[in-house]
Order: sequence, then structure tokens, then C-alpha cells
Amino acid sequence: MTLIQDLESRLATAFQTVLGEAVSAPVVAAADLRFGDYQSNAAMALAKQRKTNPRALAEQVIAALDLGGLGAADIAGPGFINFRISPETFAAKAKAQLADPRLGVPQTDAPKTIVVDFSAPNVAKPMHIGHIRSTIIGDALSRIARFLGHHVITDNHIGDWGTQFGMVTWAWKQCLDEQALLANPLQELLRLYRHASDSSKADESIREACRQELVKLQQGDEENFAIWQRCIELSRTGLDKIYDRLDVSFDHWLGESAYNDALAPLVDRLVESGVARESEGALCIFSNGEPADQAKDPFLIRKDGEWTDFPMIVRKSDGAFNYATTDIATFEFRRKEWNADAAWYVVDHRQSGHFNQLFAVAGRLGYGEMDLCHVAFGTILGTDGKPLKTRAGDLPQLADVLDEAVAAAATAVAERSRVDTDAERAELSELIGISAVKFTELSHHRLSDYVFDLQKMLALNGDTAPYIQNSVVRCRSIFRKLEDDVDLSAVEPVLVEEAEIHLARYLARYGELVPTILDDHRPNLLATYLLELARAYHSFFEACPVLKSEIAVRNSRLVLCELTSRVLTHGLGLLGIRCPEKM
Ligand code: ARG
Repeated sequence: MTLIQDLESRLATAFQTVLGEAVSAPVVAAADLRFGDYQSNAAMALAKQRKTNPRALAEQVIAALDLGGLGAADIAGPGFINFRISPETFAAKAKAQLADPRLGVPQTDAPKTIVVDFSAPNVAKPMHIGHIRSTIIGDALSRIARFLGHHVITDNHIGDWGTQFGMVTWAWKQCLDEQALLANPLQELLRLYRHASDSSKADESIREACRQELVKLQQGDEENFAIWQRCIELSRTGLDKIYDRLDVSFDHWLGESAYNDALAPLVDRLVESGVARESEGALCIFSNGEPADQAKDPFLIRKDGEWTDFPMIVRKSDGAFNYATTDIATFEFRRKEWNADAAWYVVDHRQSGHFNQLFAVAGRLGYGEMDLCHVAFGTILGTDGKPLKTRAGDLPQLADVLDEAVAAAATAVAERSRVDTDAERAELSELIGISAVKFTELSHHRLSDYVFDLQKMLALNGDTAPYIQNSVVRCRSIFRKLEDDVDLSAVEPVLVEEAEIHLARYLARYGELVPTILDDHRPNLLATYLLELARAYHSFFEACPVLKSEIAVRNSRLVLCELTSRVLTHGLGLLGIRCPEKM
């Protein structure tokens, strides 16, 4: 049981004694430690409902409250109840946490089957920078949900079907460079795509030729199908390399093409059931008048001061199905085949219109019980404050961004690291460069834009992965210098110094914090927590000698060191970041 759970249940009992009925009394970690460690505004909320005096209610509740030795409670302002936890309680918590393989993080009591739809680059098209964000956030959320006890299914819904293949196939036939394709498939496919895209902009007949290649592919033409298949296989190899570097993997790769056969019958059903209807030769889903607030209706848009139809097109007038149609087939599949209770789409915020429509369609088709969620994110900016671009003005590719980060890390490693061989330095640079990119991503609120600044990401004393990794390495080095064998599980820690108490306070919060990340899909809560914990450790390290202290004090502090290193390593692990042995 976490301290919050313990306090909540004791507080609820006290309220019940006073009010004569069962109520819930939420407790949160205090933002300002001057008032205590935890806080509840339940007395204010409950007094308001009952039209009584909140302060008087809080006083009665405190009189009835049995904290069982956890600490003390008092009242502040209009009726806040503040809790100050005793050092003995924190010491006992630390001991218990050390003995717990879950480090105090409770498992969910309502496990769900959750599909996490993330990364999903478009094959043979430039991978936009948003895929970096999607890949890192989606992976972290998957790891966290899994650790909390959910059944998580990760699915890379790659864009492996659609207009871009008409272009690539046309260019493939014109000017494929086989050597280049084998050496760097993603690069060569991108070159073909760009060649076709530039040529068709300049020449209408080339655009038509590309379209014809697509039609042939969709009609099952053997040659075009074989080209498409090779594109997919080769891209898969290229993508696997990137995912390996990022330490990201998927249970499934059900790209858009996996749903091809489902689309025609799906659209027939949409029409028969009246969900879709014909309009100007296309089949579309229109507003059904719900919700009544037109501003919230995803099928309407404001034009010239009036609400105008903004339908979802499920079959174009030329007979082609599109992104939206595939996405309808996809959630149906996930529900029927995987029994998914929830699906999280980790996709750029600019697609929110699409997802609002999609989720409304799910409701109309009777999938209302499925918890569908667009986990949106903002834009990565360059140091000039504008969306990040390469020098040539293109969207940067994931692999290049990673290479750049690793190169910058290599410079830092060469300057200040303690590892000896070139091979170790190379390995460390790869680890640190990639961790730095991941951590920066995860330490920002997903909806905010942030500046991609490698120097900042790598700073050893900033809000960075290397700062936390360095804390872990420092913790571990204490144990390397230890000359005797201590059985930490037998130690009864005693907390005296403020820095010790503060560190233990943060350690105890781990189990409370991790479950809250899923409330709003915010891994940045964990990243921020780890930074705070590492800071608390640094203050402790400055103020409290470990190895030089007399044996009982030393052992008690060793418990804090061991626990800190475990929590930091575990927390980084949930973010998909590993710790080096040495730095
Ligand atoms: N391929 C899409 C893109 O690059 C993202 C797909 C997200 N997933 C989905 N089910 N729509 O924009």
C-alpha cells in the first residue's frame, strides 16, 4: 500500500465517523513541503456539498483521525488537511520498498487490453519528425502500461499502401539504383519518391503515369505488386535497424495494406446501415446532428460564418478507399480479433480532426464501449524556434537525427568519460546520445513544442538523461568501493539528516506516481520525478558521507543509495532508457 492509499483510507474512516456515511477523501502529494508531505482538500469539498463550515468539519475529522503512527495532521487556511509523515515511517517505507521487486508500485486492479498504435511511418515517403515523438512516447507508454499489469498490444500501423506507391513504382521503373537500394533501402526509396514527386509537379503527364502505376497495383498487376512487396521488405529492414537502435519493438506490424480486403465489405455495410451515403460520386459520413453543440461536431466546420458539412470520405469518386476507411477497419479488427478495451493512437496533434471523426464513427457503429484515445503531441522546433528542418529545408529523418545526437555525445564522451577503450567509448556514445534524445522528448509535456538542442540534451548538470545516469553511476561506485559484504535487507534504516529524510520522501512517491502517468498519458510526469529524485540524491550525497560514517549510519545510508539506484534505473527503464555501468 502506498502512503497516499494508506492516508486516504484512514481519512475516509474519520470522515465516516463524523458524517455517518461513506465518502471518498482524496489525498495528494504536497507541492509545497513547508505545509507537509501530503494534503487533502476533502473537508472543503464535503463541507460545500453539506453547506457547513469546512474548517469546523476538518477539526472534527482530525479529532477522529487515527494515523496509526504514520505522522501528524493539522489544518491550514480554510480547511486543508496537511499530513507530516514521520522519519520513522519513511525509514520503514524505504525498507519495505527495498524488499519489493516492484519497488512499491502497485499493480492495477482493473487490467485492460490496450492496443498502442505508435510510430507508424509511411513507407517510401519522408518520415516526418513527428514519428520520432510518436515512437518514443508510444514505447514509453506501452512499457508503463505493461508494468502496471495491463495486457498491452503494440502495433506499428505503417503507411504501406496509397498514392506514394504509384510514384515510387514509376521512378523504380525509370531509374532504380540496385546497389543503393541494397546499401541503404530507406534512402534509395526516398530518392525515388522525391524524383517522382518533383517530376510530376513539373509534368502533368508524369503525374498521370504515376497514378496509372497505382491503379495497376491496386488491380493486382503482377510486376507492380512484386515491386511493392520488395519496397515493403526493404523498408522493413531499414526500419528494423532504427528500432533496434532505439530499443523499440512491436508485437504486430499490421500496416494499412493488411486491411485491403476488409474495405469494400466495410463500406457496403456503412452504406446499408445508413452511416455513409453518396455525395458527388463519393461515399461519405456526414454529421448526424450530435452533439447538439455544433462547435463540437467533428463533421462540421465553420466557413464564412456558417456551419458547413465536413464529411469523412470513405470511398473517393474514383473508387479508391482512403486513410479513414482503413482506420475504421482497423479498430473493428482490434476489437473483434484482440478483444481490445482501449486503443491509444500516438499521432501528431494535426490529425485530431481525423481522430475526432473516427471516434464518432466508432460510436455510431456500436463500439462506444471501446476507449479510443488520440494521444496527441506537438512539434519539434529548431534552435530558431521554427519547426525543425534540415539545411536543405527538408524534414529531418530519424536516422540522421540519431546520428547527430550520437556524434555530439561522442565529443562529450571523449572529453570527460572515464571509460578506456575506443570500443567502450563508441558504445557509451551510442547509449548516451540516444538516451539524451529520448529523455528530452519524454521530459516535455507531449502537447508542447520543444527546441531540439543537442548541447542542452547532453548537459551533465541539466534536466537530462546523462544527469540521471550519472547519479546512478555514482550510487553504484559507492558499492564498488565497499570492502565488506552487507546484507541490506537486514538493515533498519534510521533517518536523521534533512537530506536523508528528503531523499526517502521522494523514494516513497515512486509507487504513487507511476500509476498516475496513464491518467492523461503523460510520461513527462515520470521524467520530472526522476530528475527530482536525482537532485534529492545529489543533495544527500553532498550532505551525508556514506563510506566514512560509522557502521550503523553507513548501512542506513547504503539502503538509501541502493534504493535510489534501483528506482532511478527502473524508472529510466520504463521510459525505455538504459544506464551505463561507467560514464
Ligand atoms: N502513417 C500515419 C502518418 O504518418 C500515422 C498512422 C497513425 N495510426 C493510425 N491508425 N492512423 O501520419
